[in-house]
Formats: sequence, C-alpha cells, structure tokens
Amino acid sequence: MKMGKFIYEGKAKQLYETSDKDLVIVHYKDDATAGNGAKKGTILNKGVLNNEITTIIFKMLEENNIKTHFVEKLNDRDQLCQRVKIFPLEVIVRNIIAGSMAKRLGITEGTKINNTIFELCYKNDEYGDPLINNDHAVALNLASYEELDKIYEVTMKINELLKKKFEELGIILVDFKIEFGKNSKGEILLADEITPDTCRFWDMKTMKKLDKDRFRFDLGDVEDAYLEIFRRLGAK
Ligand code: C5P
Repeated sequence: MKMGKFIYEGKAKQLYETSDKDLVIVHYKDDATAGNGAKKGTILNKGVLNNEITTIIFKMLEENNIKTHFVEKLNDRDQLCQRVKIFPLEVIVRNIIAGSMAKRLGITEGTKINNTIFELCYKNDEYGDPLINNDHAVALNLASYEELDKIYEVTMKINELLKKKFEELGIILVDFKIEFGKNSKGEILLADEITPDTCRFWDMKTMKKLDKDRFRFDLGDVEDAYLEIFRRLGAK
C-alpha cells in the first residue's frame, strides 16, 4: 500500500492517506513529549519499537475479539490501519495508583487498590486534557451515553487481557490510556497505540519502571526500557 497525502501530525505519529479512502498509514516517530508538550525530546528507535509493540498487542487483542483499527504492519515504522474518526476522549485505566492520580489526590505511588479505576479525559491540548465525566462528555457532544457504555465495556476486557499478558511477562500493568474511533461503517474500534508511551509498566521483581516515566522524570535507560518491553513481548 503506497503512502498518499499527509493528513495529520501528532506528538508521536503521522497519518497519511492511501489509495483506499477507508485505510490510512500510521507512521511512528522517535519524538517524545511529556507534560502536554512542555518537555520535548527523542527516544532512539522509539518509532520502530512502538510500531512493533502495538502490532503485537493489537494482534493479541484482535485474537480475543477486540475490534481495533489495526490492519497490518507495513515496515519498521508504518502500519496500515482503518480510517476512523477519533472520539476526542482519553480513557485511562488504573490498576495501581501512580502518576497524575497519585499527585492530584496525595496518594503514595504504588498504592494497591481493590477496584479498577476508569477515568475519562477530554482530548484538548489547550486545556491539558482535563478529567471529565460521562455527563460532561455527552453535554460536549464528544460521545453518546450508549457509545460510552460500549467504550467502557471494551476497555474492561482490554484491561483484563493486557494485565494477564503482561503478568506472564513479569510485568505489572500499572495504568494505561487508550483511544477509540468510529470507522465508515459506524463501528467503534480501539485506535491509536498501546506502548510504553501510553502505559506504565513496572518489572514485577525489581519494580523498575519500563515506560515513558523514565523520559518524563529523567531516570535514564529510556531506550533500554522500551527495548525490554519489545523483547519480553517476543518481538523480532
Ligand atoms: O499522567 P497519568 O497518571 O494521568 O497517566 C495515566 C496513564 O495514561 C499513563 O500510563 C500515561 O502514560 C497515560 N497517558 C497517555 N497520554 C496522556 C495522558 C496519560 O498515554 N495524554
């Protein structure tokens, strides 16, 4: 599939048209940002690693009846995906307290919880992707209540599948962010990516952070962390 007209550039990926109006090419870059773009840098080969990591994870999810935008990996940095209209929402799942929740509510990072926490954020750079609830989302025309029900139902399944998969690899899935979109048939699909950019992964034995927190907080070994996730997933 040939790369067509440039559509859009995000913080970590670019989007291109193809000869098929329902398909796009997603190009993974090495660019890294944190704090809503306040910190900028590059992580060597991140695009290559994240393309393969997302490919493995989305294939595993598809095998478990989760509908995703992923069609096929084209090369090191490019994926063929279904064209979707992204819901301007970020769905965040927390299995262990960390990150913005630890900071916002004054809870120690690593605190275990008995229930899974689902958060909704409005994808809006200007306002720093603020936390909203279902009523806000519906009032702002971001999604309907029915669409949100479906999104949460699929998100719960994704969390169970990912937790199990990463547990087998000796990794704790602390939290993650996912995005959904609608294709031309009106189907709701998991879109975007699932990578160390969008998840918190802690090594089960050493508790070493194997994700973008290494970049966010200048912890060093950034590339190695992404490579470690890539290796444990059995990427080639
Ligand atoms: O920062 P916070 O604790 O809210 O992030 C929760 C999870 O969502 C983390 O795994 C983080 O990497 C991910 N996230 C993301 N993109 C954002 C916000 C959060 O991938 N814009």
